[in-house]
Amino acid sequence: MSRITQKNRVTVQTIATMKSKGEKIAVLTAYDYFVAGLLDSAGIDILLVGDSASNVIHGHDSTLPITMEIMLAHTAAVARGSKRAMVVADMPFLSYQPSLEVAITNAGRFLKEAGAEAVKLEGGIEMVPTIKRLVECGIPVMGHIGLTPQSIHRFGGPKVQGRHERSRALLMESALALQEAGCFSMVLELVEKSIAAEISEALSTCATIGIGAGPGCDGQVLVINDILGLRDPGFKPKFLREYADLPPIISDAAARFIRDVRDGSYPNDDESFDLKK
Ligand code: KIV
Repeated sequence: MSRITQKNRVTVQTIATMKSKGEKIAVLTAYDYFVAGLLDSAGIDILLVGDSASNVIHGHDSTLPITMEIMLAHTAAVARGSKRAMVVADMPFLSYQPSLEVAITNAGRFLKEAGAEAVKLEGGIEMVPTIKRLVECGIPVMGHIGLTPQSIHRFGGPKVQGRHERSRALLMESALALQEAGCFSMVLELVEKSIAAEISEALSTCATIGIGAGPGCDGQVLVINDILGLRDPGFKPKFLREYADLPPIISDAAARFIRDVRDGSYPNDDESFDLKK
């Protein structure tokens, strides 16, 4: 069945309605087919194929190295696993900054080739012309302000944004400009909670999705690996709530498999093919 005829799929209109009704929007990142299906069945509203895949899947220490081709492959896998959630593809570093043409071509690939329903890109007022063109082309855009990891070298580390008057004013100005440009939602990352709440209140059509931005946002996003404990032990930001601790479960399963192979108890007769059965 064509996805366009499927009922109950989360769309930009669903997100707008949720914001207007004050219903909180739940967003998790996903990078593969199987996990996407599990999160979708659990009722997640948006599956964000984050460029955090660069860190948590590919082992880089920033989001900068991940490429269009890798993000397309992750997005296609997630789209195949999702029945209800909106799939948003994160545009990788330098896939949208060089020119409007580059941005349209690459954003279009996420919809045409990978089955995403929207794209996300980082940046404030400077991204307004790009967002406007993408929206004019029929590509829904999620913005991303506050701490924007693709500019980590400019920020000089993961610093909370909006602690001072100038930075609060800039955040508000960017948020209003992104809404005006046509963003249906925007991530607020590492933003002081009172200015995040003020921004969420000031925006009428664009839903704010916080990560480290306090409870006043219209929705919240976390990285799936982080909530499952699949992260470097040293990485434990204040905003992270861990919902499961998978490393000991995975290590234990692997250790038992290794033991069974080594002592010859795997595979047994029932797990082998023979001429009689
Ligand atoms: O790449 C990502 O996972 C993100 C979220 C943290 C918002 O941008």
